[in-house]
Amino acid sequence: MNGKYIVMGGNRLVGKISVGGAKNSVLPIMAAALLAEGKTTIENVPYLSDVEVMKEVLRHAGAVVEHKHRRLEVEADKIQTSEIPETLTRKLRASNLVMGALLARMGKANVAYPGGCSIGSRPLDLHLKGLQLLGAEIKEKGGFIQVRASQLVGADIHLDFPSVGATENLMLAAVLAKGTTVIRNAAKEPEIVDLQNFLNAMGAHVRGAGVGTIVVKGVKSLRGTKHEVIPDRIEVATYMIASAITQGDVSITNAIPEHVEPVIAKLRETGAEVIVERDTIRVCGPSSLKSVNIKTLPYPGFPTDVQPQMMTLLTISQGASMVTETIFENRFKHAAELRRMGADITLEGRVALIKGVPRLSGAFVEATDLRAGVALVLAGLVAEGITVVENISHILRGYECIDRKLNQLGAKIVCVET
Ligand code: UD1
Repeated sequence: MNGKYIVMGGNRLVGKISVGGAKNSVLPIMAAALLAEGKTTIENVPYLSDVEVMKEVLRHAGAVVEHKHRRLEVEADKIQTSEIPETLTRKLRASNLVMGALLARMGKANVAYPGGCSIGSRPLDLHLKGLQLLGAEIKEKGGFIQVRASQLVGADIHLDFPSVGATENLMLAAVLAKGTTVIRNAAKEPEIVDLQNFLNAMGAHVRGAGVGTIVVKGVKSLRGTKHEVIPDRIEVATYMIASAITQGDVSITNAIPEHVEPVIAKLRETGAEVIVERDTIRVCGPSSLKSVNIKTLPYPGFPTDVQPQMMTLLTISQGASMVTETIFENRFKHAAELRRMGADITLEGRVALIKGVPRLSGAFVEATDLRAGVALVLAGLVAEGITVVENISHILRGYECIDRKLNQLGAKIVCVET
């Protein structure tokens, strides 16, 4: 589905809101389900277009997949193909996560590159170097990455950068390898811990997720299991910021506050009141926000996936703020759109300098990617007049019913499907 959100600005958000399961946990866990014999049940699976594509990927491989009442059942007893075509990988970059799982399960995987990069260049080099160390032979042919290994063998892998996807792909490949694999400088994100818990429930032997060195002792086979996905920390952070910028008073339930600590700390610096009680985070927005500096970093640093939403907040904060994006080179596309709404943002490479303005004004803007898109919805909430956010298919990749959820809190958003 595509379309636009028409956002009428100026409404204070008040009330309670619950968040869904983490998109970035569900996707690798779905890929991991391909490793099991027997039925796997994954609970708390949100209805997102990224999840829909991953379902297509699993079905394409031969798995039987059912998704009802946020419960996803996967039976991967009869995997028929190890080839994932470009029509699917183009829709979802994270579909490359099935590479490790298919390699472990079938001894080979043939996954289309999402967009013409060649082996060794950026987006998958760490994944591939690690798989090679586990004994896989890698070739590039006709836009596909072909990985093959009759038997993967445990290895000592040091990641140059704690890549989330590479850590996950290597965990998936290593669980059925012969011997022990050590992944050093591994990503520490909560989604990695969730994947470890899921793999262990299937009978794997994985330790160390969340602390930087992951040790995987290979086992012979894995069985289906039941697992509940952790709450989406990026969705939590997005609603926290929505409350802070609208001088709101919103309680976000079903959260794990520890997962959003860097966001809590920064919001408190802006003058917002943040009250944490068990799995609920209440955010009360101040009458005037203070400027702060942000630098995105791997977990537990400030998440890159919350940088655009925070930039929206800083556009209307008093004084000047500096946002440094260290994870992705090209993650300031929302800045140009925010400027159309009256924001004062100067870009210099990976740094954005934001001078707070008294108010934003409604405009026609375009969601260029998932988090940039949601940042514009937040901007629309506080802008004077009407903001039209076009191309919302990006937002639907990662937010379930965001218009309905924000409207429940007092926002006025109309969704127009095209
Ligand atoms: C995951 C998240 C995404 C989040 C990101 C960083 C999922 C489905 N997506 O993406 O929402 O923004 O973590 O927290 O979980 N890199 C390389 N070579 C590689 C792999 C990555 O150079 O082989 C680079 C990337 O280009 C990027 C950086 O490392 O600049 C971080 O990427 P990575 O941690 O791998 O992010 P993803 O797993 O793609």
